[in-house]
Amino acid sequence: MIRIAIIGAGSVGTAVGYLLSRGGYSVAGIGSRSIESARRAGQFIGQGEASTDLAHAAGQADIVFITTSDDAIEQVCKDIAAQGGFRPGSLVVHTSGALSVDILDSARQAGADTASMHPLQSLPSVEDAIRNMPGSWFCLEGGPEALEKLREMLKVFQGRELVIQPGGKPLYHAGAAAVSNFLVATIGFGLELHQAAGISRQDSLRALLPLIQGTLKNIEHLGIPEALTGPIARGDEHTVEDHLISIAREKPELLGLYCRLGKYTAGLALEKGTLKKDFAQRILGLLDRYGSSGSSIYVPDR
Ligand SMILES: NC(=O)c1ccc[n+]([C@@H]2O[C@H](COP(=O)([O-])OP(=O)(O)OC[C@H]3O[C@@H](n4cnc5c(N)ncnc54)[C@H](OP(=O)(O)O)[C@@H]3O)[C@@H](O)[C@H]2O)c1
Repeated sequence: MIRIAIIGAGSVGTAVGYLLSRGGYSVAGIGSRSIESARRAGQFIGQGEASTDLAHAAGQADIVFITTSDDAIEQVCKDIAAQGGFRPGSLVVHTSGALSVDILDSARQAGADTASMHPLQSLPSVEDAIRNMPGSWFCLEGGPEALEKLREMLKVFQGRELVIQPGGKPLYHAGAAAVSNFLVATIGFGLELHQAAGISRQDSLRALLPLIQGTLKNIEHLGIPEALTGPIARGDEHTVEDHLISIAREKPELLGLYCRLGKYTAGLALEKGTLKKDFAQRILGLLDRYGSSGSSIYVPDR
């Protein structure tokens, strides 16, 4: 049986250990900064020796997952390597989306193979991670032998793979963060405009959720830019100007954001072909005019 070690007993580490232990792997060691976290993960997974001696935890494994916070991965890897904690021929994997596999170079110099395996998913807790990880896409980075081992593990996660070119990690992660985080931010933006129209945040979110879900379905079926609808896509200049006048009057601090997003949206509408060039120029002119008059720094006032 292939033995796993988890170094960094947080949401992702615990969930990876839990899922792999139920998919034919054995969790041998669990190392973390605090013994409480390591023990909690061990109890949750139902196997694995908990320790704050990271080299000891890693030394028991064929595959070592370093699932600490991003900032700690490189140093943790160096410390384990310096203490002889990586078995030659073992595989050391991190799960960060932003960082390259190169930050594990100290493990490579110690005779281990290295890879990164980023679950393209939002995993706020162990339970959510166990629920959401299966079926997700995973961004893989590593040499052919490492990729073969990762693909075996993906079977346990019922995961699908996205292999990335060397050096592409920061932009890949920026794209993922833009989609996930800015979606939340954009919904917050819409709620504030509704609030200014006298709709409570609770009613607004309830009413907007079917719209959000319908839009997601359209994106799934049609793709982008085809899923784009609305006044900018139609070239409804007067509707766009009414939006701008009302926002300028009631929520001037949000005007700049509306205009920036509007300009990006106009580019997509041109690409879709529903917005003609002359209409696009007039709408872009409006967005420029109002955008430069509003506040560019947005500070929430709650
Ligand atoms: N959460 C997500 O949505 C998500 C999605 C994809 C990928 N990831 C990636 O997965 C990795 C883990 O993320 P996470 O959300 O699971 O983080 P997390 O819940 O904050 O867990 C990180 C764990 O690392 C441990 N740790 C931190 N510094 C350490 C050190 N110097 N030595 C030993 N242990 C240390 C902490 O241990 P103690 O509790 O013992 O202090 C903590 O439990 C990150 O690389 C992240 O980018 C996260």
